[in-house]
Parts: sequence; C-alpha cells; structure tokens
Amino acid sequence: MNTESNIELRAFVIADYEAAFALWSSIDGLYLSESDTKEAVAVFLDRNPGFSVVAIDERGNMVGAVLCGHNGRAASLYHLAVAESARGKGVGQRLVQFCIARLTAANVARCSVFVYTDNEVGNRFWLNNGWYDPDTWKVLQRRL
Ligand SMILES: CC(C)(COP(=O)(O)OP(=O)(O)OC[C@H]1O[C@@H](n2cnc3c(N)ncnc32)[C@H](O)[C@@H]1OP(=O)(O)O)[C@@H](O)C(=O)NCCC(=O)NCCS
Repeated sequence: MNTESNIELRAFVIADYEAAFALWSSIDGLYLSESDTKEAVAVFLDRNPGFSVVAIDERGNMVGAVLCGHNGRAASLYHLAVAESARGKGVGQRLVQFCIARLTAANVARCSVFVYTDNEVGNRFWLNNGWYDPDTWKVLQRRL
C-alpha cells in the first residue's frame, strides 16, 4: 500500500464496489449511469487491472476513489471523489498521482477527465493540479 498520514491507497478491486458506490452516491453533482452497475465496473476493472485506486482511512472506511482506464492510446479518469471529511489533505492529488504513475509505466501518453462545467470544486482542482482545458474541441457522444 502507498501510505501517507493515516490514509492508505491501494488498487480498486471489485470487492470495493459497494463502498465506492456509496461514496459516489453521497456526492452532489456526481452522476451515476448504466456504466456504474457492479457488472459494468467489474468489466472496466478487468480490462484495466491495477489502474483504479481507493483511499482507506485508519478505521478501514473508504474515503476516496477514482476509476482509471486506458485503451493503449489514451486514458480517462472517472468519478474522482473524496469524502468531505477527508478533503483538503491531498488525498485527491494522491489518487490522481497513483493513476498517472501506472499510466506512465504503461507508456500511455495522455489522460482526459470529464468535468461538468458547473462543477466549481472539480474544475478548480483539475486546473490547479496541472490539467488544462484544450479549448479547441468539444466532446461529442452517441448513446449505443
Ligand atoms: C475534487 C476532490 C476530489 C478533491 O479532493 P481533495 O482530497 O480535497 O483534494 P486535495 O486535498 O488533493 O486538493 C484539494 C485542495 O486542497 C489543497 N491541499 C492539498 N493538500 C493540502 C493540505 N495538506 N492541507 C491543506 N490543503 C491542502 C490543494 O492544494 C487543493 O487546493 P485547490 O482547491 O486550490 O485545488 C473533492 O473535492 C471531491 O470529491 N469533490 C466532489 C467530486 C468531484 O467534483 N470530483 C471531480 C469530478 S471530475
């Protein structure tokens, strides 16, 4: 485990799903979809073993999580979340660093994150931590 203070980081495994779902569900502005069922998250973790990460406090409670995966060319992060009680201590930065270290080791050149434009906390976090808005394209999607 990657330990700093009393919060430890380790890879997200499917046994973490229920706690992660509870954490994500507790956060205003974090929207869950059909991609967030246990079955769908299991598929994502199987395709990307060791890239997603959880933060666990000294009582064994999950206080942070993020999903991370890549397709051999580029990566994405989803659902970065830190419990309110654990915010402002660098846990969010550590979760992201964990993912970046693994992506770098896998020679993945770039990573994206989707942030709602009205998520002020999220936008500030990313922009203050080395992420930028390319501002030259928009994301188009199609439901399949
Ligand atoms: C965004 C989020 C994950 C950040 O988590 P966090 O653990 O508070 O993040 P960090 O502590 O690493 O950084 C947050 C701030 O605390 C500061 N900080 C970091 N370590 C610190 C410390 N030891 N003491 C005081 N402040 C610290 C950081 O500089 C950062 O400042 P900023 O707000 O100007 O960016 C969290 O606020 C969250 O879960 N928000 C809701 C969900 C969300 O919006 N997710 C992003 C969706 S894309």
